[in-house]
Amino acid sequence: MYTQDPAFWRAGAISSSAVMFVVLVVLSIDSVRAIRAGGSHVPRYDVINRNIGYGFDSARNEDVPIIQGEDLLFNRHYTEAEATRLLAKGKLVIQSRACIDCHTFFGNGAYYGPDLTKAWLDPIWTAWGPMYGAKRRDQAMVDFLMHPERFPLGNRTMPNLGISEDEARAVVAYLKWMSAVDANGFPAGFLSANAR
Ligand code: HEC
Repeated sequence: MYTQDPAFWRAGAISSSAVMFVVLVVLSIDSVRAIRAGGSHVPRYDVINRNIGYGFDSARNEDVPIIQGEDLLFNRHYTEAEATRLLAKGKLVIQSRACIDCHTFFGNGAYYGPDLTKAWLDPIWTAWGPMYGAKRRDQAMVDFLMHPERFPLGNRTMPNLGISEDEARAVVAYLKWMSAVDANGFPAGFLSANAR
């Protein structure tokens, strides 16, 4: 019987490993395409100039970012190069303050504070901003990041992390860009869950 022959199993192992290796390469290339800025799931950095929403897509049966029209951040238009620099700075601020020690991004991190993937879209900024004198969502977020202890939003208070205005603006730009990432429906029902 050929099944008794070790050469049969060796050939089987080698050929299935080879096939799976090819599959792995194809899937890796596909993932890299999908996750790089400008790919199918991750917007270009200059998306920070646009209006970003989040709504249910019945064909996909999950929430997807809705990107349309213009909605300038801090009342100015960022070129792709300027937006790239701003977001790189925002990312460095986020890393330097270890926001992930308390927060999750795309569900990864710690659970002391809320998930930040869609924080830009939180209706609280427009509801709460005007009460404290911030007319716009971007400014309300900057104020909060610089002085979270002055603006308690919920039961827990975020500590003051010594974030300058420039740094806060870069973080807000980063959070706006992140809210436009198509994370396959994560987090589900963000806007309805946060309608307060
Ligand atoms: C020591 C823990 C801790 C660290 C570190 C921390 N946060 Fe927070 N953050 C919180 C808590 C707690 C809240 C909820 C505050 C509230 O409800 O008043 C919060 C709330 C927020 C919110 C509001 C979320 C929403 O949509 O309601 C944002 C945005 C935010 N944090 C951003 C950041 C960023 C950016 C960093 C890093 C620069 C950071 N946080 C670091 C604890 C932390």
